[in-house]
Amino acid sequence: MAAAEGTPLYVYSAASLTERYRAMADAFAGYPHALHYALKANSTLAIARLLRELGSAADANSIWEIEVARKAGFTPSNIVFTGVGKSLAELECAVGLGLKAINVESAGELARVEAIAARLGSVARVALRVNPDIDAKSHPHISTGLRINKFGLPVDEARDLLDGLASRPALRLVAVHVHIGSQITTLDPLRRAARLAGDLSSHLISKGVALEYVDLGGGLGVSYDGREVPTPADYVSALVDEVRATRLPIVIEPGRAIAAPSGALVARVIDLKPRTATSEFVVIDAGMTELLRPALYNAFHRIEVVSERGGPVTDYEIVGPVCESSDVVGRDRKLEKLEVGDLVAIRDAGAYGAVMASNYNRRPFPTEVLVEDGAWRVIRRRQTVDDMLALEQ
Ligand code: LLP
Repeated sequence: MAAAEGTPLYVYSAASLTERYRAMADAFAGYPHALHYALKANSTLAIARLLRELGSAADANSIWEIEVARKAGFTPSNIVFTGVGKSLAELECAVGLGLKAINVESAGELARVEAIAARLGSVARVALRVNPDIDAKSHPHISTGLRINKFGLPVDEARDLLDGLASRPALRLVAVHVHIGSQITTLDPLRRAARLAGDLSSHLISKGVALEYVDLGGGLGVSYDGREVPTPADYVSALVDEVRATRLPIVIEPGRAIAAPSGALVARVIDLKPRTATSEFVVIDAGMTELLRPALYNAFHRIEVVSERGGPVTDYEIVGPVCESSDVVGRDRKLEKLEVGDLVAIRDAGAYGAVMASNYNRRPFPTEVLVEDGAWRVIRRRQTVDDMLALEQ
C-alpha cells in the first residue's frame, strides 16, 4: 500500500468501523435510539457512506458537513445540525432543508431560526443545547460542558426559554440536547449530563410539550495508551438508565469511539540523528499537518514499527518535518532500531486526523485508503500542488 501510494497515508478499516458502529447500536438492546455519527471526526465521503449503509444517521457541524452528508446519501430528516456558531447563511439553508433538528445554542440563535422559518412560512425543528456545568474531566481544549465554556445555554436560562416556546409557532421543539466534551473516559459526567437532559425533558413533557427524543451528544473516549475505558455497552446502558423514565428515544452523536481506532497514519522514516546521550530523533514524513492532536493537545498516540526487524530497542523522539518545535508526534518512545526508509504506523488516527490536516508548509493532504473485505482502495487521492494552486489567481 505504502509502496504503491506513497506516504504519509491514512489507512482505515471497514471491518473496524462496522464492528464499532454495531457495538454501539446493539448496546441499546431494543431501547429506541438513533446514532448520529459525528462527521467532524472523519467525513471522507466513503467513510460517511459506509456509516450510512450501516444504518447511521449524521451529526453535522457546518453547512459544508451537511452538504457532504447529503452527498453521502443522508437525508435531511437524518441529519442534526450542531455547533456553536452557525452563520445566517448556514441557518437559512438548514431551515430550508427541514433537518431532523437544528441544535440551537443561544437565545439569539433561536430568534434567528424563528425569523427565517416565519419568513419561509415553515416551522423549524429545533433542539436546545443546554450547558449542564459538568466537568467532563477530559482535556480542557475539548471539554464543553462547563459554564465557562462557550457551548450551549446555562440551565436556568434554557429553562425559561423552553417554557416560552409553546407560544412561538414558527418553532417546534423536538429535543433537549447536551454534549459535555470529547475523549471522556469516565461514565459519571456523562451520566450526570444525561440525567439533567432527562429531567429537563420530563419537566417539558409534564407541561404538554411533545418531545420526540433526547439528544445526549457524543464524547465517549477511546484508549490511546492501552488503559481501560468504558465499553460502548457500559456507556449506552448508563445513558439508558438515566433517561428511561422519560420513555423518549435516545439520540447520540458518537464520532471518535467509532472512527479513531479504525484508522492509522502510516509514515516513513526520512532521517535519524542524535538527540541526547541516550536518545535519537527520528524524523518521519508525517507531522502536525497530518495529525495535529499531539501538538495541539499533547495527545498520546501509540507508534509501531510496521516491518519489525527485531533490532535492539532505542529511545526515540519521533518528530514531523514541519518547521515548528511543537511538531513532535511521539515523545520518548522505545522502538526497535529504525533505519531511513522504515515504515511506522501511528495508531488511532481514524478520528480527528485527516479532518484536521492542513497545508502548512504547502504540504498536500495525504492519500486515504480503505481496507475492506481483504482488499484496499484509495478513497481520497493525495492532493497535488496544482490542486492547491487551482484556487489561486
Ligand atoms: N456532538 C457535538 C456537539 C460535538 O461537538 C462533538 C465533538 C461530537 C458530538 C463528537 O464527539 P466525539 O464522540 O467524537 O467525542 N479535535 C478534538 C475533538 C473535538 C471534538 C469536538 N466535538 C480531538 O482531536 O480530540
